[in-house]
Amino acid sequence: MQRYEEIAETDMKNAHIVGWGSFLPERVLTNDEIALTVDTSNEWIFTRTGIRERHIAATQETTATMAFEAAARALAVADLHPSQIELIIVATSTPEYIFPSTACRVQDYLGARRAGAFDLSAACSGFVYGLSVAAQSIATGSVRNAIVIGTETLSRVVDWEDRGTCILFGDGAGAVVLKGSSIPGGVMASTLRSDGSGGDLLSLPAVYHNPVPTLGPEYLHNGHQKNTIRMAGRQIFRFATNVISDVIEDVLKKAELTIDDVDLIVPHQANRRIIETAAKKLGVPSDLFYVNLDKAGNTSAASIPIALCDAVDAGKLAPDDNVIFVGFGGGLTWAASVVKWDVTPQQISRVDREWKRARYIAARGRSRVRKISRRWGAKLAGSPTPDAKMKDARKKAD
Ligand code: UT7
Repeated sequence: MQRYEEIAETDMKNAHIVGWGSFLPERVLTNDEIALTVDTSNEWIFTRTGIRERHIAATQETTATMAFEAAARALAVADLHPSQIELIIVATSTPEYIFPSTACRVQDYLGARRAGAFDLSAACSGFVYGLSVAAQSIATGSVRNAIVIGTETLSRVVDWEDRGTCILFGDGAGAVVLKGSSIPGGVMASTLRSDGSGGDLLSLPAVYHNPVPTLGPEYLHNGHQKNTIRMAGRQIFRFATNVISDVIEDVLKKAELTIDDVDLIVPHQANRRIIETAAKKLGVPSDLFYVNLDKAGNTSAASIPIALCDAVDAGKLAPDDNVIFVGFGGGLTWAASVVKWDVTPQQISRVDREWKRARYIAARGRSRVRKISRRWGAKLAGSPTPDAKMKDARKKAD
């Protein structure tokens, strides 16, 4: 016979969003400022995209530090301790390292000592992909609590001389905490799609590809592929307006809902005109879509969770609402999830917030101690550290 605890343990299969948080760097870059460096204007950018300004990371801010800030805020809302998190997924196209993953760095900053962590590459659809994977991990009973983060420092990979792209992108991070529960609801269905034949329409090389570019000669700069975003804007625009309504209809069918059951759609924030065209195709008013493009621009994988946090702050979501997240972008990829929103945010006192922040200082201290003891362990065992090996190689080369 199954014991009560075992039943409870195996029953927590509905992945509910119980925490959310976002981080935008302080520095704001307005359209007027961009117009000082490339041939454009505030009027052109705003009427063609809906963007007025975007945030730009400071030198010391990175994809990982912004992700950590968003995740820490989401954990505070969820009222969970980092040690209760078993999975961290970071969706990003701008990691500082191929490895270690950004997710591992966030795991260390949080002190989430029981978590598996990995990065996911699906461009602007990355957050929805991550949400789907995390929800599945909870549904199978593999993990109980997970964090999904979208985070980008696109300002570092934008070609600031290309007016077709540099006007669009911004930096920031957003995160949600998912918690397994026996109560029906949470992430109800997801649809993930891709079409690699359109990979050349929107791309960002990871490293210098020398000598053979795989996406065509137009992606070469002085014989090398440069690490900046290349985009065929008009074609991506057309692709986006075609897939948004299709993928929403598909995911609604899976969840056995109709568009009339939907209270809010939080789309990837790419262009207001894309969103308006998609609304027309779906036959819904465009204000069913939440838009914060004017303030944050296009932050790729981070745009949906950042917009979600703004929507919550603006009082756009109430318990029992059905919300759809829909992403589209490089790959090509596109995806949608339908989520039953079933939480009311709790007020967090200042003392509580400060107390929770102190955890992360302690986590950094523990991490440092582990690093030092590893170094000493290696010294005592006579094994060279990667640093010592590099120094040795440099000496030999001199
Ligand atoms: O997040 C990933 C997904 N990304 C997207 O969804 C982006 C999708 N694409 C878009 O949002 C739009 O295609 C853009 C906003 C990038 C461009 O808007 P558009 O209305 O498609 O402009 P266009 O590329 O068709 O260009 C129209 C004209 C061109 O001039 P000519 O050739 O007609 O004389 C461009 O050179 O606008 C010119 N142009 C600009 N003018 C002033 C292009 N960029 C600019 C600019 N300022 N920044």
